[in-house]
Amino acid sequence: MDFYNILLNAHKGFGYLEILLVTLFVIALLATMFGYSGKVNNFLKKTTLFTMIFFHVQFLAGLALLLVSPGVKTALSAGTLMSDSYARFQYVEHPFSMLIAAILMTVVNKKVKTNPTLSLGVVIMGLIAVGLFAFAFPWARVFGA
Ligand code: HEM
Repeated sequence: MDFYNILLNAHKGFGYLEILLVTLFVIALLATMFGYSGKVNNFLKKTTLFTMIFFHVQFLAGLALLLVSPGVKTALSAGTLMSDSYARFQYVEHPFSMLIAAILMTVVNKKVKTNPTLSLGVVIMGLIAVGLFAFAFPWARVFGA
C-alpha cells in the first residue's frame, strides 16, 4: 500500500470514530442544555475535548491528502475542480467546512473547559460545528448510495 492509500484509510477510519464522538458530543450538549442545572459535567468536557482532538487529527491528515491525492491533481489539470460537483464537494467544500467546524469546536472546548455553566452562545456554536460536519461528511462515498 502506498502513502496515499495509508493516509486515505487512516482518514476514513478516524472518520468513523469522529461520527461516534460527534454523536456523543451532541447528546452531552443537549443533555446539559436541557438539564436541570445547566452545569458543565465531566462527560461534556471529555466528549468536547476528544471531538476537538480528532477534528484536528483529521485536519492534518486531510491537508496531507489534499497534497498527494491523484483526484485533486486530475481535477486541477483538467480545470474541473469547481465545475464538477463531485470534485468541488470532495476537494473544496469538504475541507473548508471541516476546517470551520474544527475552529468552532476549538472555541467550544475552551469555553466548556473554563466556564462552570453552558451559555446559549456555546450551544449554538457547537450545533453549527455539528451541522457543518454533517453537511461535509462524504456519506455517499463512505456508506454508498
Ligand atoms: C472531522 C473532519 C473530517 C472527517 C470526518 C473526514 C472524513 C473523510 C472521509 C470519510 C473521506 C472519504 C475517505 C474514503 O472514501 O476512503 C474523506 C476524504 C477526504 N478528505 Fe476528509 N474528513 C475530515 C476533514 C478533512 C479536512 C479538514 C480536510 C482538508 C484540509 C480533508 C480532506 C480530504 C480529502 C482531500 C479527501 C479525498 C481524498 C481523495 O479523494 O483522494 N478532510 N474525508
